[in-house]
Amino acid sequence: MQRTEPHILVIFGASGDLTRRKLIPALYKLYSGKLLPEQFGILGIGRTSFNDGSYRDYIGETVSGTGNSEGNDNKGFLDRVHYLEMDPADESGYPHLETKLSELRKSYGIPGNYIFYLATPPSLYKTIPRYLHDFQMTSEKNGFWKRIIIEKPFGLDFGSARKLNEQLLSVLSEDQIYRIDHYLGKETVQNIFVTRFSNGIFEPLWNRNYIDHVEITSSEDFGVGSRGGYYDRSGALRDMFQNHLLQLVAIVAMEPPSSISSDNIRNEMLKVFQSVRLISKDEVEDNVIRGQYMEAHVRGELQRSYRNEQGVPPASRTETYVAVKLYIDNWRWGGVPFYVRTGKRMPAKVTEIVIHFKPSPHTLFCNEGKGYESSNQLIIRIQPNEGILLKFGMKVQGAGYNVQDVNMDFHYKDLMNAEIPKAYERLLLDCIQGDSTLYARGDAVEEAWKIVDPILQRWEDDQHFPLYGYPCGTWGPEQADSLIEGRKLTWSYPSKNLADDGIYCEL
Ligand code: BG6
Repeated sequence: MQRTEPHILVIFGASGDLTRRKLIPALYKLYSGKLLPEQFGILGIGRTSFNDGSYRDYIGETVSGTGNSEGNDNKGFLDRVHYLEMDPADESGYPHLETKLSELRKSYGIPGNYIFYLATPPSLYKTIPRYLHDFQMTSEKNGFWKRIIIEKPFGLDFGSARKLNEQLLSVLSEDQIYRIDHYLGKETVQNIFVTRFSNGIFEPLWNRNYIDHVEITSSEDFGVGSRGGYYDRSGALRDMFQNHLLQLVAIVAMEPPSSISSDNIRNEMLKVFQSVRLISKDEVEDNVIRGQYMEAHVRGELQRSYRNEQGVPPASRTETYVAVKLYIDNWRWGGVPFYVRTGKRMPAKVTEIVIHFKPSPHTLFCNEGKGYESSNQLIIRIQPNEGILLKFGMKVQGAGYNVQDVNMDFHYKDLMNAEIPKAYERLLLDCIQGDSTLYARGDAVEEAWKIVDPILQRWEDDQHFPLYGYPCGTWGPEQADSLIEGRKLTWSYPSKNLADDGIYCEL
């Protein structure tokens, strides 16, 4: 990898959790891996009262011991971190920001490239770019670049996402805007492109002729923690499905791009969103199941219900689980259902995609006395245990032709003796290098909202729309089985086993 161009990274929301837990450690990893330029500085901005020294103390422990062993230089990194106390919603702070940036430019010898990272509440996504523009900090004159990274959620529905895009595009150009979806930064998600498009064996099978259905699960074994206030206004559909899970759908379903250029890849992903059959408000019942976690003992510990979480109203009807059946109406996927589910307080933290292939056309063999029907599956494990597993039938040793399912199992960690880079490392580096491939484009974000809007509207209009409870530590409401059981299938239990009481147990 080449060193990157000199620049200053400005983080709005510098005292927040995201900056401390994800951004600073990711930047430190890049720094210790010598992927940042010599002339580089970080300016944190927030309303909390810090100076450079106290801010460095505040973030210090998040970088100790996390670097690459050769380049472990916490002090060298922290010395490049600065802080400006400022309310980003108040216009009067921006001249101070300009002054601070020109001081930093001089002291690091940086001519004029900036990245502004908006790790703030979404209410500031319009305000900050507008003021940066008004105070001439986003102008790319003299060939210096200015980029803005925007965290999710990008809008609350189609209308608000479109409006936000319009507001941003009135002060920036599309190629200056980097809308982050950290799932796209995961190595294993990018590996889906490579698995699909570098192997002759998969591509001929990757269509409606050979694939019966696709299952995508992203489960978490924890609850909303201290994020109840945010989460209750969001819910699983907005928090996970509209962005992360639909991106996974797009990568599994897209056509091969003509090259790996950002536009070519993002054009193909957009086409998938455009081809998803919209679920009308009247069809929501048959295609979407929502749930909320309820108090239960998990491994001997009492876990509280969602309604008892901090910041959550006691009668909240926000979903912490959602399962959706969707179809992609195009030539490749016509008639193939995609079952997508996500939830909190489920048995395990697992994200995986299961491609279920159609059975062989004729039953010749037996398994445990019954006719053996092949159920070949390709399981793409996004996290944990990153890897790919192929399930297929093999002859059981001995007389006759009994068949048993076996696994061909590749673990990513066996490929090289190196830690898999974290999503934020990859995404920050891409932005620094001006590569937006793994960031969501404005048109795609809007299309993804079009898919979820009718569901949100139905839930909003119909206060009696079922919200099923599920005990903490289970795979969600039983009613979700009806989505898939209609076709005599069952959800897979992600590469894991369940104990008799329905509680996840490690193999
Ligand atoms: C975030 C959601 O975008 O993704 C969280 O807001 C969720 O609610 C998280 O826990 C999951 O990300 P990951 O990378 O841990 O699967």
